[in-house]
Amino acid sequence: MSSPRYAAIAGWGMAVPRRVVTNDELAQRLDTSDEWIRTRTGIAQRHVAGPDEFTSVLAARAGREALERAGMAPEAVDTVIVATCTPDRPFPATACTVQAALGMPRAGAFDLAAACSGFVYGLSVGSALVQSGMSRSVLLIAADIFTHLIDWNDRNTCVLFGDGAGAVVLRASEQPLGLLSSNIGAWGEGETLMAVDAGGTLLPATPALLEERRQYVYMNGREIFKHAVRGMCESSERAVADAGLTMDDVALVVPHQANVRIIEAVAKRLELPMERFFVNLDRYGNTSAASVPIALYEAVQQGRVHAGDHVLLTAFGGGLTWGSALIRWGA
Ligand code: ACO
Repeated sequence: MSSPRYAAIAGWGMAVPRRVVTNDELAQRLDTSDEWIRTRTGIAQRHVAGPDEFTSVLAARAGREALERAGMAPEAVDTVIVATCTPDRPFPATACTVQAALGMPRAGAFDLAAACSGFVYGLSVGSALVQSGMSRSVLLIAADIFTHLIDWNDRNTCVLFGDGAGAVVLRASEQPLGLLSSNIGAWGEGETLMAVDAGGTLLPATPALLEERRQYVYMNGREIFKHAVRGMCESSERAVADAGLTMDDVALVVPHQANVRIIEAVAKRLELPMERFFVNLDRYGNTSAASVPIALYEAVQQGRVHAGDHVLLTAFGGGLTWGSALIRWGA
């Protein structure tokens, strides 16, 4: 059997927790304001998971919708990837929990940790599995309960994040659809610009560390901002060039939804109008790995993406990690 040349995106799904937390609600118990959060980030509200909405629950909901939209039985899935930095448990992989929950007995299952770049990393890996012929179909889910890592007393971080999941089905195709080019990058020296220190093998969680709130995320916002703009611009330019295209050929850019000012800076540097960028962070905040697939889902549902369109996905996250993917839309 010859390898298929392409991995078309055959289905898409998303899921967010029930509870919505507005800026005003945060301002009631923190020294912040709706005005500060909106003008510095563009965020107006975020969805926050309740105790029964852990990562695999949202992942399975998004994955089930993607499979239904693709008209694919769960039994037909060869591989399930869950991109997450907030798994249900340190071990085993959340992808295994989702494999059981959705009834995908044939599927190999693994997690992929690349923070907010997880979906773009996963799209690269999943498409390569399909294009090599190793998997005929891949269910790629990006899911994070990032608020699990949030100190709700830290106004520098807690206003930025929300929870959610997004998923796509990648299916072998001879048509030039799906991923046309991608690149992934990382700068490990920047790992402490944004991190959670306690709870792993480096610093196992102890009562003293928990007392110091070391189980929560800290971040150098200004430095991350600069690296985000540079990382997303350079990798976007490379993805477009590697596909043999120019920015003029890109119908829509779906960027990581961290901060509208980061997106505006990327648009300026790429010399593209903001109308060419999809933005929904006002309603979800930064949902980490789920941000790009949730934005892609809403762009499709709102009719912003048409068959044959070239869509540029670009993301940036802790690690530091980044990556971009140029896709041709159509199943
Ligand atoms: N409400 C009110 N004031 C605040 C708040 C808040 N929620 N947060 C910070 N401030 C204060 C700061 O304390 C500071 O006060 P000071 O001058 O008295 O010290 C002041 O506001 C200005 O702070 P800056 O850091 O200069 O604000 P900036 O304009 O850079 O915006 C922000 C901060 C929003 C964090 C921005 O830097 C940013 O978005 N950076 C990127 C962060 C990011 O995207 N991280 C996620 C990466 S993806 C991933 O892997 C999950």
